[in-house]
Amino acid sequence: MIDILFLAKMGANVSAPNVVNIADLRVLAKRRLPRMVFDYIDSGADKEQTLSQNCTAYNEILFQPRCAVAVPSCDLKVTVLGQEFQLPFMLAPVGSSRLFYPKGEVVAAGEAGKAGTGYTLSTLSGCRLEDVKKATTSPAWYQLYLLGGRDVALKTIARAKAAGFSAIVVTIDTPVSGLRERDLRNGTKELLSRNIFTMLPYLPQMLIKPCWLTDWLGDGGLMSFPNVQLEDGPMGYTEIGPALEASVVTWDDLKWIREAWGGKIVVKGVHIPDDARKAVDLGVDAIVVSNHGARQLDSVAPTIQALPQIVRAVNSKIDVLLDGGIRRGADVVKALCLGAKGVLIGRAYAYGLGAAGGAGVARSIEIIRTDVLRTMKLLGCDSVANLNRSYVKIPASWDSN
Ligand code: GLV
Repeated sequence: MIDILFLAKMGANVSAPNVVNIADLRVLAKRRLPRMVFDYIDSGADKEQTLSQNCTAYNEILFQPRCAVAVPSCDLKVTVLGQEFQLPFMLAPVGSSRLFYPKGEVVAAGEAGKAGTGYTLSTLSGCRLEDVKKATTSPAWYQLYLLGGRDVALKTIARAKAAGFSAIVVTIDTPVSGLRERDLRNGTKELLSRNIFTMLPYLPQMLIKPCWLTDWLGDGGLMSFPNVQLEDGPMGYTEIGPALEASVVTWDDLKWIREAWGGKIVVKGVHIPDDARKAVDLGVDAIVVSNHGARQLDSVAPTIQALPQIVRAVNSKIDVLLDGGIRRGADVVKALCLGAKGVLIGRAYAYGLGAAGGAGVARSIEIIRTDVLRTMKLLGCDSVANLNRSYVKIPASWDSN
């Protein structure tokens, strides 16, 4: 037991050759986390068609490199919403990160800050937004669900403003929680019920992961959501599903959110050119082409496939970002070539967090950063700002309506 506790403190070795890519971090996360937590990160909606296509669609894009070009240095900086980031990828909002590793959101934000890139905090955070903002020196954005209704959201918006978050990210694709079959099989709801008899049949998956268990119990065990403050305290896990359905975000909500926030607004969850145009007309500052990591409606287009038409519809009026399926630097470069201003990585760093906390997040950022750099040099392009469509070939159907 002593040995096990010692190993828990040491964490997994995330250096090469143990970890050379994001898939290696996924394996380590699977080893450390109970099935219910690993599957929360790893799974998608329904038959997980979009989950796999979000990744495989990148294979349909072919590079067209310029050779015999010396690129001694490469500028990876981007400016999004008028803010400069050292890297063209930022950390996406990932709910319940505190389940993956103690103080998960604080840890991930801290690593984003060290790398000079952005972090977006999910409403479904186990850590107080003030603590997360303090952990990073880089810009951080706050992802908003209207859980608990408008008055609850207004209080959170005021807190996010006071804490120094520099943008609100409004997620528009969650009128109801997607069906995640793996959560049902793993007894996620039962395990979060706080009722020992309901939990009992599903507990062994936690007991066989002593490293995770000691960390989790040491961090206070079952968390609630301290940034969704109801009259009787923070919202609990089992309240999330009904609360989402009771607080569907519509385009009309953007008006009062804008008034209350008074700063930059990003709309996340845009699938089609019409919604992108609507966001532009409503004066939002950026959109994220996103299918929620394939966790909501299944059988929608992979985000990289949807990107070209949306970029064309937006016509450079606002920044277009993208998330979904990014596991390599080459994926980041492909999205930038197709007109994304930057991308958000989700699972790619969540696996790192689940595998080894801050060291795992840092390793996932480093893997993707060095991949981007190498890819740019191989392409013969010296700056992210100079990437464009001429560096890639895409299937003709991606451009047509
Ligand atoms: C939360 O937004 C989730 O997808 O679980």
